Amino acid sequence: MNEIEERLDEIRERGLYRKLRCVSGPQGPRVLLDGRPVLLLCSNNYLGLADHPRVREAAAEAAMRYGAGSGASRLISGNMTIHRRLEEQLARFKGAEACLLFGSGFLANAGVVSALAREGDVVFSDALNHASIVDGCRLSRAETFVYDHCDVDHLEWGLRQAEGRGALIVTDGVFSMDGDTAPLPEIVELAQRHDARVMVDEAHGTGCVGPGGRGLVAEYGLEDEVDVIVGTLGKALGSYGAYVLCDKPMSKYLINTARTLIFSTALSPPAVAAAIAALELLREQPRRVEKLRRNAAVLREALAESGLPVEPGETPIVPLIVGDADAAMAASERALERGVFAQAIRPPTVPAGTSRLRLAVMASHTKSELREAGRVLAAAIPASARESVALGEAGATLGRSGVFDVLADAA
Ligand SMILES: Cc1ncc(COP(=O)(O)O)c(C=O)c1O
Repeated sequence: MNEIEERLDEIRERGLYRKLRCVSGPQGPRVLLDGRPVLLLCSNNYLGLADHPRVREAAAEAAMRYGAGSGASRLISGNMTIHRRLEEQLARFKGAEACLLFGSGFLANAGVVSALAREGDVVFSDALNHASIVDGCRLSRAETFVYDHCDVDHLEWGLRQAEGRGALIVTDGVFSMDGDTAPLPEIVELAQRHDARVMVDEAHGTGCVGPGGRGLVAEYGLEDEVDVIVGTLGKALGSYGAYVLCDKPMSKYLINTARTLIFSTALSPPAVAAAIAALELLREQPRRVEKLRRNAAVLREALAESGLPVEPGETPIVPLIVGDADAAMAASERALERGVFAQAIRPPTVPAGTSRLRLAVMASHTKSELREAGRVLAAAIPASARESVALGEAGATLGRSGVFDVLADAA
């Protein structure tokens, strides 16, 4: 057996083997998955815009007008009028001074964190932040302090240890695998007291929370207090790519230092045009965000009525914690046999012992589909596998040591 096969076997033995499934046709509430019709309950197409006719038409038209690709990085010849148009519209929508498009959310997070945090600085990162933030910390030459999930006391303790050093606090707004939200007012207050910058990842906030879907920062009215907001175009906005909102000097700094912007091809015109159309729809039809909120409440209610442990919340991300990786996979397969696609999420995406079905609601689901999903999931998850791990409890084991550079634990 060659070494790669041995490594694969080791992954299988740990119950962590992954394989790709294939969806035929567009990303709607119902899809054909590997040829089988299923209710899709794990897509980030929250507002149902990825398959909206206006969004599709905009992408097709842009392909005819501007071509399929941008041909180069933005600093060479890939920066096109259509990029500028989307940046202006996003900045206006979010009330920011400047906006900068990146190739994806992963590239934006990795690029911004590594550009902002320099040798001698400290990055303060929530234990449950997305992998792209973790990798941004690794790429930077700064030290990293992983604070317990949403624990502002732990964060403050760390800030006090690092007094006098350059500091960047970075957090997901809506946490991608738990669906809970960061205590932004407290974080901003601590940042001001300790002279730290704040960066918020709104990947799952934009289109889902805040007034008109403007995100968690807008919900708290903290637009002027947060230094950098990262948002993605590939989730509620139904396209692909990402953006950074900040002030003008920061935008110029990132153009000069963010390696994932400098050394990567600019977004393709169809992806940009699709995002412009999606943003227009979001502005014209804020009821979509309301519908998403109502649907999230319907699913939570249906799950609770079926006896499943659900944490209260308002975001469209609903985790059903199972615990063991194999048990989560088995539950996902049983749900699939009954026509519901709810992907199992295992380490390293979530901490060991907290494998789960991560459910994601869409505005385009019907109430009866969500109620049906509640019944199917109750049948798929046996009572013995319903582990009500309090949200964030698992994260609390990460970085408890309160020392710098404990990122390896959080990977
Ligand atoms: C919180 C968070 N940030 C960033 C990303 C990366 O975004 P993208 O898929 O655009 O690379 C994701 C999702 O994958 C995410 O959940």
